[in-house]
Amino acid sequence: MALGATHIEPADTMESQDLKDLSEVLFTGDQIAARVAALGEYISQEYQGKNLVIIGVLKGVVLFLADLMREIRIPVQFDVVGASSYRSGKDAAPQVSITKDLDIDLHGKDVLILEDIYDTGRTLQVVYEMVKLYNPASIEVCALLYKTIPRERVMPVKYVGFEIGNVFVVGYGLDYKERYRNLRCIGVLNPEIYE
Ligand code: IMP
Ligand code: MG
Repeated sequence: MALGATHIEPADTMESQDLKDLSEVLFTGDQIAARVAALGEYISQEYQGKNLVIIGVLKGVVLFLADLMREIRIPVQFDVVGASSYRSGKDAAPQVSITKDLDIDLHGKDVLILEDIYDTGRTLQVVYEMVKLYNPASIEVCALLYKTIPRERVMPVKYVGFEIGNVFVVGYGLDYKERYRNLRCIGVLNPEIYE
């Protein structure tokens, strides 16, 4: 017989084993939810009467995308694009390639590109150029996290969830080697994990 529901501990009292790999929690699940709700409210006002299409950049954006969509009170469509970036060396500029193209017609639409984290901006730049080819009415960018590292920015970001320093973070969709995406919070990964 399968385990009955009464045998399963409620999710909010359960701690993920992966939490021990964080050196610091930057934003709790509740803080993220509050900020995403505020972003959704703001975007709903800004795009009132427009043809909003949200384009999420896989895979890190999936939790943010799903939560933000539910905070938007105006008609909205969404699609996802796949982009992968890799560096030939630690300090080399990342090479970005598109791994999944768009399915919906963007002609005349007001596109909001959604990303989990803005680091060098290379991924966004490539996605932006691709979206532009579809002749949308407008293109803006929203990033849940924005790394405030002093350097030249290749892309303007209009909507930002949280600003963070030069740290490597995981959780709420963000990964290290495909792990930690399921954490409710966002935290700094203990450097011992990747050193
Ligand atoms: P960018 O192209 O340098 O802006 O990098 C953006 C992508 O790199 C993001 O979509 C993430 O997948 C990944 N990335 C950058 N910084 C972090 C981090 O601190 N934690 C996890 N992934 C990151
Ligand atoms: Mg990643």
